[in-house]
Amino acid sequence: MTALMHPVIRSGILLAVIALFGTALLAAVNDLTRERIIEQERQRTLSQLHQIIPTGNFNNDLLADTIEINAPEFFKHRDAITVYRARMDDRPVAALLTVTAPDGYNGDIRLLAGIAFDGTVLGVRIISHRETPGLGDPIELERSDWILGFTGKSLDNPDPPGWAVKKDGGKFDQFTGATISPRAVVRAVQNTLLYFAANRHSIFDESAKPGNAE
Ligand SMILES: Cc1cc2nc3c(=O)[nH]c(=O)nc-3n(C[C@H](O)[C@H](O)[C@H](O)COP(=O)(O)O)c2cc1C
Repeated sequence: MTALMHPVIRSGILLAVIALFGTALLAAVNDLTRERIIEQERQRTLSQLHQIIPTGNFNNDLLADTIEINAPEFFKHRDAITVYRARMDDRPVAALLTVTAPDGYNGDIRLLAGIAFDGTVLGVRIISHRETPGLGDPIELERSDWILGFTGKSLDNPDPPGWAVKKDGGKFDQFTGATISPRAVVRAVQNTLLYFAANRHSIFDESAKPGNAE
């Protein structure tokens, strides 16, 4: 009997092949799932872009006129932020930013915040989150109209102390038994406004091509 034919070695080889196959299969399924989630988020963001800024308000190709920025000093998160730039006849109209709030109850809350060039919030939508159903998920428009409360607000409306949930002395409602999720979203929207106020000219700068904003 050759060494290879020894039953123990044969079983060992068989086990190794099965383990290798299993790992490869798992990696492939993982990749597919990740791609599907990314595509679903992309579709959701597209539909939300149009909810926030009606198509008649700009005439550039919003989806092609984007830049990527990193501003952890404002957002307390290292994720790249995509900025969609809306223009009318080349004049800046609004920026829509995909921002991550790092401090949800269950981690990151991704949202889309549309800010008009004058610093007024056009609208905010939640792209993705893992907040608890029935507690934190009223941040989603599908669950409640709480998120619509940001529309028309700006850095000085309400005044800075007002940019908090009511439990913290601010103007925004929290939910019954859930303060952490709305608090995280309020903070992220205020940070977006602060970032926008400090950078709105460079955001719309023609030389700010994809990948080199700031
Ligand atoms: C299982 C479980 C899930 C919870 N999920 C959330 C949530 O998704 N969002 C949230 O704001 N609070 C959630 N809470 C409640 C928070 O722990 C907290 O009590 C509440 O947000 C009030 O926060 P505050 O003490 O900072 O005001 C959850 C609590 C439990 C026990």
